[in-house]
Amino acid sequence: MIFAMAVIGAVTRLTESGLSIMEWAPLSGALPPLSDAEWQRLFALYQQIPEYQEINRGTTPDEFRETFWLEYIHRLWGRLIGVVFLLPLVWFWLRRRLRPRLARHLWGIFALGALQGLMGWYMVASGFAERTDVSQYRLVAHLLLACAIYVYTLAIALRLLAPVGTNDGAGRFVKLRLGLIALTALLVVTIASGGFVAGLNAGLIYNSFPLMDGQLVPADYGALRPWSANLFENHAAVQFNHRVLAIATLAGAIALWAASLNTPMTAPARRVMALLALVAALQVALGISTLLLVVPVWLGALHQAGALTLLTVAICALHSLRRADLDGSERQPRGLGSGFGRGTMKVNVRTIVRLGAHLPPGRQGNRVELDVASGATPADILLRLGLSRDRNYLVKVNGEIVPQPGMAWPGSATTTN
Ligand code: HEM
Repeated sequence: MIFAMAVIGAVTRLTESGLSIMEWAPLSGALPPLSDAEWQRLFALYQQIPEYQEINRGTTPDEFRETFWLEYIHRLWGRLIGVVFLLPLVWFWLRRRLRPRLARHLWGIFALGALQGLMGWYMVASGFAERTDVSQYRLVAHLLLACAIYVYTLAIALRLLAPVGTNDGAGRFVKLRLGLIALTALLVVTIASGGFVAGLNAGLIYNSFPLMDGQLVPADYGALRPWSANLFENHAAVQFNHRVLAIATLAGAIALWAASLNTPMTAPARRVMALLALVAALQVALGISTLLLVVPVWLGALHQAGALTLLTVAICALHSLRRADLDGSERQPRGLGSGFGRGTMKVNVRTIVRLGAHLPPGRQGNRVELDVASGATPADILLRLGLSRDRNYLVKVNGEIVPQPGMAWPGSATTTN
């Protein structure tokens, strides 16, 4: 839903619909105008702002209704996300089904969501007074906060689904993970720079690639004073910077994928590293197409979706290269827990040598103490271990094999320990 929200937001902006609702009514605004008088009142409000007076003078009430609906859907979807998140959260929280640490994270996500509603209004309000559009600074702040909420939610979900990392902490692994953190930071900067391109409508000029008006660096790069203003307010410079950052992101993703080929890791982690390079290449291709075709709405929205997809893959890659929380010394897992109650169980994880798959060396024969309810089912335990989908592990609880759902263990399975 958050992903869809970001794409709806992009469509709202690309169709210039964002300034069509002049009121901030978090609760009563959920209802659309229900009478002709209400439509007329809202249209009259719109006619007062600079966007109407300087650019859209002559907009008919019917045209106004079209832009209104997109902004309305964007806001309604935001409210819906709030309800879908808040109701189960309150339910589980009141019933004490959440560990305090997990509850803190979830309330944190909710607070960020509420802040994003405010931020959205603060952004839109910048287009009501002197300007004919919203401030690019506020647009980027709104975009970055959306990314933060998305990444936070995704990271918590991934930790709950697969709490145990597989990285054995070997030197090459650490370097790869550091590289991945740096790449994710670079990706966020690239996304912010894309926000400036979008906020300044800087995709409507220099519609060629790789040269900009016949030059690699556009002639008017650095035209503004002070020089630092070029980074955020000069259309040519902003577009050039976005290109350079995007190419650097792609180069980084390819380099990390190449490095991952020489690093021992699980098959899913290997796949996600390859996917990272692939999605980065597709995103650059989408960006170039958006530019060459002078930002059609559908392509601009697809480019925004591509940015979020790339962010998703980067976070999944980071998650799959997470250092094992558990080691042979039987430490308590640092995971968030999945809400189960009290009780401690000893769980052994061993590798089955089957189908050629294997656990990374650091986790073979791990003995793990898990804090789970005494009535926990095998499926609960596998989930806590992050092994729910992987059929190549043998898990023993107090000496007894935990059967994987729907799986008959081969009697001849060899185990290592
Ligand atoms: C890693 C690669 C890239 C990422 C992550 C990325 C990300 C973004 C983001 C987040 C936006 C803002 C979208 C919005 O707010 O609606 C954007 C806009 C834009 N990007 Fe990229 N981009 C990448 C590559 C490129 C490339 C290579 C080009 C062209 C050479 C490009 C051209 C554009 C243009 C023209 C816009 C403005 C579109 C609009 O007005 O909606 N992008 N980009």
